[in-house]
Amino acid sequence: MKTRLGILISGGGSNMRSIANACEQSNFPAQISLVLSNNPDAKGLQFARELGLQTSIVDHRNFSAREDFEQEIQRHLIKAKVEMVCLAGFMRILSPFLVGEWQGKMLNIHPSLLPKFRGLDTHRRALDAKEKTHGCSVHFVTTGLDQGPVIAQSAVPVLADDTTQALQARVLNAEHLLYSRIIKQLCRQL
Ligand code: GRF
Repeated sequence: MKTRLGILISGGGSNMRSIANACEQSNFPAQISLVLSNNPDAKGLQFARELGLQTSIVDHRNFSAREDFEQEIQRHLIKAKVEMVCLAGFMRILSPFLVGEWQGKMLNIHPSLLPKFRGLDTHRRALDAKEKTHGCSVHFVTTGLDQGPVIAQSAVPVLADDTTQALQARVLNAEHLLYSRIIKQLCRQL
């Protein structure tokens, strides 16, 4: 039985697409059961629809309390029989409620070699810090922002003439490979 994934996105959804590609392989141990976005205009939603994936929109602006927003997300995840949640560019901080519901079963991909550069604008900060190496991390989600246990990382070189865009593209490429590889490993163990 393939593990049923719920992918939470807010934007372009390139990680979601790379996971969807991986799921096309017959020996991949997971399938995408739901792509959910808090942003109705997320480009990734359109890609997901084109791929024939089930999508949901839960717009945070329609909720005055964070827990009500998360209860609604949870309702969609349960309805789609999701077994593992993958945050992929999901730009809302989650409260202990939703994180607690998915303890050990909610992953995030972050564009830095954690614990370096938690939070936003990681590529600019890596360049400013004159890092020689940068990269991405897949970690379990806990209530501390980008602080959950790291599962795996992928490093890329920082080149002398790098712009944030060039570095971001190199890291994003590494993200696509890493996230699917880790999902494959974890789902095999389930
Ligand atoms: C990625 O860099 C991811 O690490 C970060 O947000 C970005 C999302 O990109 N959390 P995409 O929407 O998957 O293209």
